[in-house]
Amino acid sequence: MNFVDVIAKKRDGNALSREDIDRFVSGVTTASIPDYQASALLMAIVLRGMTDQETGWLTDAMVRSGDRVDLSDIEGIKVGKHSTGGVGDKVSIILAPIAAACGVVVPKMSGRGLGHTGGTLDKLESIPGYRTALTVEEFKRVLRTVGTSIIGQTASLAPADKRLYALRDVTATVPSVPLIAASVMSKKLAEGGNALVLDVKCGDGAFMKSEKDARELARALVAIGSQGGVRTEAVITNMDAPLGLAVGNAVEIIECIETLKGRGPADLVAVVGALGSRVLVLSGRFDEASADAALRGAIASGAALATLRAMIEAQGGDGAVVDDYSRLPAAARRKAVTAPREGYIAALKADLVGRASMALGAGRERVEDRVDHGAGVMISKKPGDAVRAGDTVLELLYNDARGLAQAVAFAEQAIHIASDPPAVKPLVLGRVA
Ligand code: URA
Repeated sequence: MNFVDVIAKKRDGNALSREDIDRFVSGVTTASIPDYQASALLMAIVLRGMTDQETGWLTDAMVRSGDRVDLSDIEGIKVGKHSTGGVGDKVSIILAPIAAACGVVVPKMSGRGLGHTGGTLDKLESIPGYRTALTVEEFKRVLRTVGTSIIGQTASLAPADKRLYALRDVTATVPSVPLIAASVMSKKLAEGGNALVLDVKCGDGAFMKSEKDARELARALVAIGSQGGVRTEAVITNMDAPLGLAVGNAVEIIECIETLKGRGPADLVAVVGALGSRVLVLSGRFDEASADAALRGAIASGAALATLRAMIEAQGGDGAVVDDYSRLPAAARRKAVTAPREGYIAALKADLVGRASMALGAGRERVEDRVDHGAGVMISKKPGDAVRAGDTVLELLYNDARGLAQAVAFAEQAIHIASDPPAVKPLVLGRVA
C-alpha cells in the first residue's frame, strides 16, 4: 500500500493496522517519509482520533524506534513519576528525594521547558555544576548510590517522538489525546521503570483545559502503561493557578529546598503528598496509611533533604546550595505588580504567569533559546486571598529589561479580582488507576 493510502484511510475515519503504524514510525525516524506526508497523517489523527489499540501500537513502535533502558540489575521496584506540564510545577524535584529517602528507587528522565510551562531540567541546571546529560551507566550508578537521579532524556530514547514532536509543534497537531499519550508513554516505557505515577494537569496552564479532557488523557495513559506491563496510575491535579509561590528556575529550586525543610507552601505540599503517597504505594512497600507517615517522616528527619543534596553532588552539582541560596543565580532587579482594587483574588491565570516568566527570560520559545536561571515570578497572593488596592500580587524578577513591558502586561492580565470570596477548586481532581 502506498503511504498516501494510509493517510486516506485515517482521513476517512478508519483504524490503521499495526503494519501501517510501524511503517509510519520507522519512516518518520529514518526520514524516508517526507514531512508533508507525516504531517498530513498527524492532522488526520488529530481530527479522526485513534482506538486504544492503535494508540498502543503507536506507542510500542515509538519505544522500538530507540533503546530501552535496562534497570533490571537495580534492586527493587523502580517507580517513575511524570507530569504533563504546568506552571511552577517542581513536584518531581521534591518527590523523588522524598521517595528515595523512604527506600523507593525513582529513576527520572525529564524534558526541557518549552512555551509557558517550565522544565525540570532547566530548574536543576540552575544549580552550579549539576549535570543533566549523564550516560545510562552514570544514571544507574547514581540510582544505586542515592536512590534517585534526574537527568535529561538520552538521544536514543524514543527518537521517533523527537521527530514527531518537532513536526507537531509546527503543524498545530499537538492537542490530540492519542498523540500526547503515545508521546509521553513512549518515553516513560523506554525509561525502564516497573511502575509509574502520572500527574495529569488540568486547567488554564495545562494542555488539558477541561476535566473531561484531562480524564480522557489520564485514561489513555494508564491503558498504555498497563498494556506495556508497567503498573500505571494517574492523578489529575488543578493547574488553573501556578503551583507554589515561585515560577522560574533558581527560585523554584529554593522553593523545593524549603519544602524539603518542612516550609513549603500548602498547595505544593498537598500535591507532593498526593503523588508521593501513590509512588510509595506502587512500590509495594507501603500501604496508604504508612505511605503518608513515611513521607512526613522523611521530611521531618532531614533524610529527604540529605538525599537531594546527595543527588546534586553525585551529578557534579554544588550541594551547598541547600544551605546557602546565594550560591544560586539570582535576578538583579525586581518589579512589583499590584492589585488594582480591593477584593479577593478570584483567579491567577497560570498560563499568563508562565508567559510573564518566559518574557523575563526564565523560559524558552524555541528549543535553542537560552534560559536566564535567575529570572522568574514570585507570587505574594494566591486565589482566595483578600487584597487591598496597591498590594503586591506578583513580583517580576529579571536581569534583562527587554521583556519587562511584555511581562508586566501578562502579569496584569493574569490577576482577576472579585468583590466576594471565590469558590476555590480542589487541587486534586481525581485518580485513574
Ligand atoms: N508532553 C509530551 O512529552 N508529549 C506531548 O505530546 C505533550 C506533552
